[in-house]
Amino acid sequence: MHKVLLLNGPNLNLLGRREPEIYGHTTLAEIESRAQALGQQLGLAVDCLQSNAEHRLIERIHQTLDDHTTYIIFNPAAFTHTSLALRDALLAVQTPFVEVHLSDISQRESWRQHSWFSDIATRVITGQGAAGYEQALRFVADQLNQPLTT
Ligand code: DQA
Repeated sequence: MHKVLLLNGPNLNLLGRREPEIYGHTTLAEIESRAQALGQQLGLAVDCLQSNAEHRLIERIHQTLDDHTTYIIFNPAAFTHTSLALRDALLAVQTPFVEVHLSDISQRESWRQHSWFSDIATRVITGQGAAGYEQALRFVADQLNQPLTT
């Protein structure tokens, strides 16, 4: 069974209570348990981590080198717009990842419109609310089920 890491950045632990008019009413616990249930149907083992600390996210990304994680689904939250260190971590491990945002960052403040991740992600899903994580998981399952073409 493929291992997928669902990684969420700062302030996403407050989902459901944090600016619900922007981020919705679904809690992170609900997002994680839905992802794990859908993962089971799709044959993916989903491991979840949320952290408010950049170094913790970096260390978890490094761990994917050794723990056989095949894909990452990542909402870097505010680090999307600031963190070269997280970008470098993803480039270092070369674990493919999908970038997810609940809100549509392309329609928000100008400083939210730049992402340090989009050009190196295999897919970017924005503005779909909590459903974006499920779309990401289905995309990952499709990618992993594709026959190898060499
Ligand atoms: C976010 C968008 C970011 O700009 C913001 O800092 C977040 C959440 C989103 O999911 O829409 O914390 O990544």
